Amino acid sequence: MISYKELGLVNSRDLFAKAMQGGYAIPAYNFNNMEQLQAIIAACVETKSPVILQVSSGARKYANQTLLRYMAQGAVEYAKELGYPIPIVLHLDHGDSFELCKNCIEFGFSSVMIDGSHLPYEENIALTRRVVDYAHQYDVTVEGELGVLAGVEDDVNAEHHTYTQPEEVEDFVKRTGVDSLAISIGTSHGAFKFKPGQKPEIRLDILKEIEKRIPGFPIVLHGSSSVPQDIVAEINRYGGKMKDSIGIPEEQLRKAAGSAVCKINIDSDGRLAMTAAIRKVFVEKPEEFDPRKYLGPARDKLKELYKHKNINVLGSDNKA
Ligand code: G3H
Ligand code: 13P
Ligand code: ZN
Repeated sequence: MISYKELGLVNSRDLFAKAMQGGYAIPAYNFNNMEQLQAIIAACVETKSPVILQVSSGARKYANQTLLRYMAQGAVEYAKELGYPIPIVLHLDHGDSFELCKNCIEFGFSSVMIDGSHLPYEENIALTRRVVDYAHQYDVTVEGELGVLAGVEDDVNAEHHTYTQPEEVEDFVKRTGVDSLAISIGTSHGAFKFKPGQKPEIRLDILKEIEKRIPGFPIVLHGSSSVPQDIVAEINRYGGKMKDSIGIPEEQLRKAAGSAVCKINIDSDGRLAMTAAIRKVFVEKPEEFDPRKYLGPARDKLKELYKHKNINVLGSDNKA
């Protein structure tokens, strides 16, 4: 058993309390390789933002969990070396079983999500409670979820949203003991959220209803990529074949971050940014074959994207 505290990581409790008070949200960025991690840490150090590093179960398989743990530990040292030791959370994204959550906790994660949102209500409560009881022994924070987001999530694809029912949140939070709650209010996973012409809408009215029932309780938004149109155009200009699609408008996310939303998950926008930069190098410099020559520009573009998110969307700059 390795405690996240030995790795220099923190859990999400204090970060969420400050975000709630300050009217901003903590960025939760997914990673599975070195360039992504470098970009996240450099962007968050330069904007002086706390950060949640997210690992999905797919990422854990891809990158190997031992390596991931050392990478997270390395991220703590890297931030110090860059001159500003920001608070860093290592979080399991969309944990689907007690065993996976337990394993991550034993491997140095400081926070886990147990996603029982596809289960019947009482089963979601029982599973979440079990994870909370285990995690809290080690001061690891737990995120639960109520309601189902549309879109692709690992291998699960839900076609429609099932919005979170405000009547359920108080009971769920009380009976599970979770530290934060992911809700479904119109965001969705993946790069293909809405077709151009559709009107994406975060249901701030449902969010308000939820806030009324659990005042001051940290809320999490998944599926919060905005699918920047200039990046999609760049991918296609350099030989990509991305379908037309739009994401969650950044102004709506900014509004949500000012409320009880304390954590905003962004993964797809980073994937798009990296892809655009790599495609550009491949087209403009077809003679290059050193991975640093295309992964370097991808890392730079990713860092710019994250800085923009921290400053203009989450409002987490200068909060570390
Ligand atoms: O919500 C899902 C995240 O974007 C992680 O995606 O399972 O493909 O790593 P992944
Ligand atoms: P996006 O696919 O919108 O980036 O959402 C990521 C996410 O919710 C990770 O849990
Ligand atoms: Zn998610």
